[in-house]
Amino acid sequence: MKPEIRIFKDLEELSRTAASLFVERCAQSIAERDQFLVALNGGGTPNRLFQLLATEDREQVDWSKVHVFWGDERCVTPGDPGSSYGQAREMLLSHVPIPEVNIHRVKGELDPAAASDDYARVLEEFASPPLDWPRFDLVYLGMGEDGHTASLFPGSPVEVSEPTLPVTAQYQDRPANRVTLTPVVFNSARLIVFMATGEKKAQTFAEVLSDRYNPERYPAQRIRPDPGTLIWLVDEAAAGKLPEDS
Ligand code: 6PG
Repeated sequence: MKPEIRIFKDLEELSRTAASLFVERCAQSIAERDQFLVALNGGGTPNRLFQLLATEDREQVDWSKVHVFWGDERCVTPGDPGSSYGQAREMLLSHVPIPEVNIHRVKGELDPAAASDDYARVLEEFASPPLDWPRFDLVYLGMGEDGHTASLFPGSPVEVSEPTLPVTAQYQDRPANRVTLTPVVFNSARLIVFMATGEKKAQTFAEVLSDRYNPERYPAQRIRPDPGTLIWLVDEAAAGKLPEDS
């Protein structure tokens, strides 16, 4: 199924829509299942989303029923500037009344294999049978200029049955050792929201959305929720190379 693409003037507008989707899906999930399971991403793009949820949208969320997970994490200590958990704590989680026990971080201080196994056990606590992991209500993902998403990098195995994997990959100046959730988990989610901005991602984004399916080269193409929904939130610069008829 072709994903929905929403194009925005800038990151501010995009982030406001990303925050509204959080508020909407949270209320719906709590009404239906008395809990909201959401997976966050790292990198720069989600920062404004975190700020909005911590301020303007804060009162619209029943944080006591929200469970926060991560789609991937860098294997660094929580206080390290490269920690995605640390980033979210600083910009969002320390500003909202979410119970500490509802924050399910990847233990980045462990070695990647141990952290990956540990997180698979954490996911199992929220398993949605017959799955050994939760059916997330909402997953936020980013995309690198190279087409990676979460910590699924070009050239990595496409068919993976484990829910989590230890990964070592170089991208910009970011920590190389990581833990990532895998497509079997992402693709069981009810809603996946990709956020991508900037001209540097335009060619890759156009390739990811094209009919040329090359999931080894473009890991973002491995994300195909079924029966869930996939929405791309992009700015005009990132959408700059899409064919007219997209
Ligand atoms: C990470 C992310 C990664 C990120 C992309 C895009 O922790 O590094 O999960 O997949 O989403 O690298 O990062 P930017 O938003 O900074 O471009």
